[in-house]
Amino acid sequence: MARLRLAILISGRGSNMRTLLAACRSGVVAADPCLVLSNRAEAPGLALAEAAGVPTRTIPHRDFGERTAFDAALDRALREAGAEFVCLAGFMRLLTRDFIEAWRDRMINIHPSLLPAFPGLDTHRRALAAGVKFAGCTVHFVRFETDTGPIIAQAVVPVLGSDDEARLAARVLEAEHRLYPLALGLVAAGKVWVEGERAVVEGVTQPTQMLLNPTG
Ligand code: GAR
Repeated sequence: MARLRLAILISGRGSNMRTLLAACRSGVVAADPCLVLSNRAEAPGLALAEAAGVPTRTIPHRDFGERTAFDAALDRALREAGAEFVCLAGFMRLLTRDFIEAWRDRMINIHPSLLPAFPGLDTHRRALAAGVKFAGCTVHFVRFETDTGPIIAQAVVPVLGSDDEARLAARVLEAEHRLYPLALGLVAAGKVWVEGERAVVEGVTQPTQMLLNPTG
């Protein structure tokens, strides 16, 4: 199978982006990163991408009066780079319906919760407030409503009595760094497709163990 030409959209730290770039470089993921694009010039992830030798671009959303104009500029940049597939990795802008439709089933996102629970911002604070005993992260195809779309893969971590937002976020982030390369690798290998708004994932192994929290 041909390698996917991949663009990654970020807004900040870029730790998920870094794991995706590393997975492409090591051959775990059959994709070639052609662009890392940020809506914020000060995003620390841009320097990480440059250090990895991947072309970067900044398109500041504040330069555009309307979301449609910003998204049109994003779309142009992606096409100019020859991108075939897009990973959102901590890209904190709402995208317009037209942009999402233009990249339908060719754009995925990672969100730090077990969707459909806790979409949007302040995920970990809300999970702690709800008292859930498991948290996790989800990789999904992107649809118009925030953090919705066919789910490709999820990882689960326990919520501990001693957790605060930072501790829970760190545990989930470690899971994100395992899950996102795994999910992208499956997509790039042609093992994932969408059928009736559900993602079908083939040729994978699945867990059989139950998890209890508390355990006893
Ligand atoms: C990650 O936890 C990601 O799941 C989250 O932003 C963080 C970005 O960190 N994304 C969302 O909340 C999207 N709704 P990173 O820049 O270090 O990858």
